[in-house]
Amino acid sequence: MTEPQKPQRILSGMRPTGRLHLGHLKGVLQNWLALQEEHRCFFFAADWHALTTDYANPGIVQSTIWEMVIDWLAVGIDPDKSVLFIQSEVAAHAELHLLFSFITPLPWLERVPTYKDQIEQLREKELGTYGFLGYPLLQAADILIYRADAVPVGEDQVPHVELTREVARRFNHLYRKPEQPLFPEPAALLMPAAKMPGLDGRKMSKSYDNTIALDESWKATEKKVRAMKTDTQRKLRTDPGDPERCPVWEYHKIYSTEEERGEVCAGCTSAAIGCLDCKQILLRHLEAELVPIRQRRQEIAARPDDVKAIIRAGNARANIEAERTMEKVRRTLKMGYRV
Ligand code: TRP
Ligand code: SF4
Repeated sequence: MTEPQKPQRILSGMRPTGRLHLGHLKGVLQNWLALQEEHRCFFFAADWHALTTDYANPGIVQSTIWEMVIDWLAVGIDPDKSVLFIQSEVAAHAELHLLFSFITPLPWLERVPTYKDQIEQLREKELGTYGFLGYPLLQAADILIYRADAVPVGEDQVPHVELTREVARRFNHLYRKPEQPLFPEPAALLMPAAKMPGLDGRKMSKSYDNTIALDESWKATEKKVRAMKTDTQRKLRTDPGDPERCPVWEYHKIYSTEEERGEVCAGCTSAAIGCLDCKQILLRHLEAELVPIRQRRQEIAARPDDVKAIIRAGNARANIEAERTMEKVRRTLKMGYRV
């Protein structure tokens, strides 16, 4: 991710759909951490977005939100630096979404690549709904209501930011003088695709059951790492292995020092070290990263009222910002009745 130079307004959302894992930490949250040091960041739980696909199970969203926020805080997302809030607590997102729906041609939504893909992939969820088609437009409202300059997203979300730019342009063009646009066109800050492979070498994802969750115990993590598959051709301790065929090696690439990688490579290919020795090196690094996060997590989880207060303050701040934009929008659309 190349960061913008000057302090900017950054906005990003995460859907509360399940426990966060190492993939979220490496692929998303560490980017947020870097951004909050230099920029004005707004981070929110996209609960309405979760409902577009999980409308049949609203309970999941409710319970997951708090766990997700606790994870954010535990890894160091700092409410003194960033505004943390819940989407549905800022009802103006829905109002702006509605107003955008009037000016958005259907083909713009139908051609978003995630649309048809997801309907296919999640066939059992019946996503032929009005709301699911509008998913990226709701996202456009999320972004534009804060007049964000930049949006950190994964590759799959780039078309949504592009749509957001098109909607901003169309609104400005229809309703505003060229020299007075209301909405800036936000840039997508592409986050490098999840660097973190799952325990089996595929992408880390709860649907593959190959994750290391942020909230699991260190014992559970240790057990999973010890059970990780290694080079399948290294059947005996005395057989030499090839790190390139081994998912453990992918983790060493992320966590281990150059020196350690040298040792692992030499030890593996000559059968001088066993796979458990090799994993032990990795476990030391994982422990150093995860144990402090989990300790903070427990401390934070023990104070649910403080977590609620953080979100309450974030919601209030977000509402003020959103309302500022909406006043301009209503005035622009000749809807400031002031009765
Ligand atoms: N669609 C995003 C995702 O699935 C979540 C999201 C909703 C979002 N609104 C957003 C991300 C606004 C960035 C900005 O990951
Ligand atoms: Fe994989 Fe390490 Fe075993 Fe080699 S020694 S096969 S890199 S776990």
